Formats: sequence, C-alpha cells, structure tokens
Amino acid sequence: MTIPQYVKIVEVGPRDGLQNEKAMVPADVKVALVNQLTDAGFVNIESASFVSPKWVPQMADGAEVMARITRRPGTLYSVLTPNMKGFEAAVAAGADEVVIFGAASEAFSQKNINCSIAESIARFEPVAAAAKEAGVRLRGSISCSLGCPYQGEVPVSAVVDVVRRMRELGCDEIDIADTIGVGTPTRVQEVMRAVSAEFAIDRLSGHFHDTYGQALSNILASLEVGIAIFHASVAGLGGCPYAKGATGNVATEDVLYMLHGMGLHTGIDLEAVVRTGDFISQAIGRPNSSRVGKALLTKWATAAEAGAATCV
Ligand code: HMG
Ligand code: MG
Repeated sequence: MTIPQYVKIVEVGPRDGLQNEKAMVPADVKVALVNQLTDAGFVNIESASFVSPKWVPQMADGAEVMARITRRPGTLYSVLTPNMKGFEAAVAAGADEVVIFGAASEAFSQKNINCSIAESIARFEPVAAAAKEAGVRLRGSISCSLGCPYQGEVPVSAVVDVVRRMRELGCDEIDIADTIGVGTPTRVQEVMRAVSAEFAIDRLSGHFHDTYGQALSNILASLEVGIAIFHASVAGLGGCPYAKGATGNVATEDVLYMLHGMGLHTGIDLEAVVRTGDFISQAIGRPNSSRVGKALLTKWATAAEAGAATCV
C-alpha cells in the first residue's frame, strides 16, 4: 500500500476542542477561531454542536457561531447532530455537513447519548434521510473504536458492525474515533483494515485523542494502510465530557509538521495554524498542548529578540 500523497485534515478544535471547557468561551472567540482556521486553508472545520444544552452547555451558542463566521467557498463547516431537533437547527444554521455520532461500545453510547447502539441508529435514521433529502453531507462518527472508558476492550467486530449500519444510513464519510487515546499502531491497523473491507477507504477517517501519546504513531500506522483523512485540534485542545481524563485530539500543528516533513500535501499553512493555536490558548487561558506550536513560537520569539538586539 502506498501512502496517500494528499491528506485531508478535518479541524475539530472549535467543537471537540472547546466542548469540554467549563467556563463559557465567548461566541466572539469561537467565531475568530473558525475564521482564522478558514484563513489557514482547512477544507473542513467542525464548528459547532447542536446537542442538548443541558448535556453540553459550552456548545449552546452554535447557531450564533454559525451565523457569524465568514465562510470560504470550498470549506465545509460541519456540526454534530444527535437527533432531528439538532438536524433542524443545523440546517437552519447553514451547516454543510451534519455528523451523527454513535459508539462501538454500549456503555459509552448510554453515557454519551443516553441510548443503546441500536436505539441510536434508529434515532439517526430520520436524520440521515433528511440530510439526503436536503442535500447536506452526512458523516458518521464511531466513538470508542479502540477502547472504552467504561467497558474496556472493544472487539473489532463491534466497530465493523457500526460501520455497516452507518454505511446503510448513507454516510458519506465515517470516523473511526479513539475517544480515550488508548489505541496502539498494530491494533489501529487491524481496525482500519477490517472497516475498509466494509466502507471505501478514501472516505474513512482517523480521529485520535492523544491521552496516551499514541496519536501521531496511530496516524502514521493508518497512513500505511491507506487512510487519508485525519481529525486534529489546534493547540491539542479538548476532551469529551463523557470520557473523563481523556485529553484533547492530537494537535493539528504536530500532525501538519509530520505530514509536511514526510513530503505529503495538506493545503494548510502550518505557521498560520501555530499563530491560531497561540491565539486560542491565550483566549481561554490554557497552556498550548502542541509541541510543534510551542517549539515554533519559542523559535520565532528568540529570533525576534535577536533581531531587536542587533538593531540596538
Ligand atoms: P435525552 O435527555 O435522552 O433526550 O438526551 P431528550 O430527547 O429527552 O431531550 C432532553 C432535553 O434536551 C429536552 O429539553 C430536549 O428538548 C433537549 P427539555 O424538554 O428538558 O427542556 N434536546 C435538545 N436541545 C437542543 N438540541 C438538541 C436537543 N435534543 C434534545 N439536538 C441527547 C439525548 C442525544 C439529546 C443528549 O444525550 C445529548 O445532547 N448528548 C450530546 C452529548 C455530546 O455532545 N457529547 C460530546 C460529543 S461526542 C464526542 O465528543 C465524541 C467524538 O469527538 C468522537 C470521539 O472522540 O469519540 C465525536
Ligand atoms: Mg473526539
């Protein structure tokens, strides 16, 4: 298998990155974040969630964020929609893609969306049908594909089963998500190979949280078996409110540095993403979790100081 030369990065910072923040992040900051990411060249930005505000209060202002962002033609602005209420709000907000999110683990499904896997698929059916009817792109996300915080091991067959059901719903793209970052490369390849027997490999993505520091290795392992779409979060923001202790997604800056260093193409301006990572970390008062972000910001600051010293 040759490694894909073009890799699509789905930036999930504005949604997955911010959803777990306790203090409300002002809509102004969310809008500025999406706009900066747009300018950096992303073709897909997960920008908001239309979920119950009682479950995830941080995402309650999704309609305002979607109304105020500056959209670039060619960039898809995606949102999470667990049910028809979410879907209707998403369409009213002009979402280009809706994301139905299920799990390969029964226990996580109950904790995250308050229903069994089978019930979740039944709930997604009208959402999927309505998305097709409205011509809105449909993505399916499968949490706990590499392990579950409640149930532990998740069999590969359980992931394959949900992929089949999401394929039958008509998903255009399916995310294999390592919600708690426990996967390691060999297992990741096993899962990716198994699911790609059921769903077109060029429409499968890897969504890796970096809790155990495995995410970059898992991306490389996925590339080796032909996966060409990855999710990442600027400055490594985030976590899932229903997966305690899980840290953010792999930092976008780190993924871009690795891919560009390998000579692969993303169409994204790494330096612009590093500046955006600095902006959002300062705006929400969090340390920047991107190693590449921190390294480049230090390098630029040192060079600027040296330049200033030379001018004296
Ligand atoms: P429920 O309580 O079983 O549903 O929640 P319900 O239908 O009984 O509704 C309860 C209340 O929520 C009602 O309001 C509804 O109107 C309202 P009330 O009558 O009590 O005032 N409601 C809504 N409000 C706004 N938008 C909606 C909506 N739906 C219901 N769409 C439900 C079921 C699915 C709604 C709930 O469990 C929920 O919203 N869960 C979302 C959890 C979530 O967002 N988790 C994080 C995202 S997933 C993730 O991060 C994983 C991912 O990154 C991949 C990975 O890493 O694994 C994608
Ligand atoms: Mg996630």
